[in-house]
Amino acid sequence: MSNTEINLKSLIGDNTREEFLKLLKSRTPFISHGNTEALKDLISLPFFDSVESLAACWRDTVDVFNSKIADEISKTSISPEDALNEYRNGSCILFNDVNRIIPDFDMWNQKIRREIGFSELTYVRNLVYATPAGKGNAPHFDQNFNFVIQLEGTKKWWLAKNKTINNPMTRHVIGHPADDELGSYTTKEFPESFPEDCTEYILEPGSILFVPRGVWHMTEAVTDAVSFNFTFTPPTWIDIATIALRAKLSHSEKWRESAIIDNKGSHNSEFNKLLNGLSADVENWKSVDFLDITEHQEK
Ligand SMILES: [Fe+2]
Repeated sequence: MSNTEINLKSLIGDNTREEFLKLLKSRTPFISHGNTEALKDLISLPFFDSVESLAACWRDTVDVFNSKIADEISKTSISPEDALNEYRNGSCILFNDVNRIIPDFDMWNQKIRREIGFSELTYVRNLVYATPAGKGNAPHFDQNFNFVIQLEGTKKWWLAKNKTINNPMTRHVIGHPADDELGSYTTKEFPESFPEDCTEYILEPGSILFVPRGVWHMTEAVTDAVSFNFTFTPPTWIDIATIALRAKLSHSEKWRESAIIDNKGSHNSEFNKLLNGLSADVENWKSVDFLDITEHQEK
């Protein structure tokens, strides 16, 4: 492999990091085309020559989407050979966590993650979707941020603002039940069909589409199409706070006691004492105390 750098700049084009962060925070998608040269090291991997070469190198199962549901909520994991047959017969297939087999991907993933400013606790992975002409993904949103790079063929994407919930912590597919936690903090009803005020994006080889967290999207391949995703699932402040809090409290023998629940008795008063101590302590907490626990652990 040559040393053409794949970094944040390769994905955000003319935007500066600050401009990109504004787009990310305001959940604004963007597309750029003609990035074949900037992504040469990625696109020219022999691995990506064709779906056949990808399947031939693959030493794991491949996910095949149920064509009626057209989403990862209904998929089976089968051998690469069987997946290739399913693809030829019109099913979408997914090579998950491609970064496990190409170490450079993890190097790029972590570099881009640091450049964006996502926590070390971010789950970063790469996915390759092979979608036969006329097929695509059912309308949904994800809890993660995606850079979608079109490798082969033409694919249409439709994106729409999510007017039901901001910053969802799990994904949701239109027409399917929301998970319990998502349902608990979402006060409006989810739409029953894809929002009409959407924007269409057409991806050709070398196109990069940024799909922010929570934005509704659905797809359809115009021709047989292969795409590569950089997928970032950063922790929320909730995750940072609870992980660091657990680490702090674990130093206390009292907090480590097994919880015994009785509604009126002494066990609850012990818990009240702990909570009172905690709330007195909270006033002195600074973000750095938490971030010292979750960040800067990388060697
Ligand atoms: Fe998605």
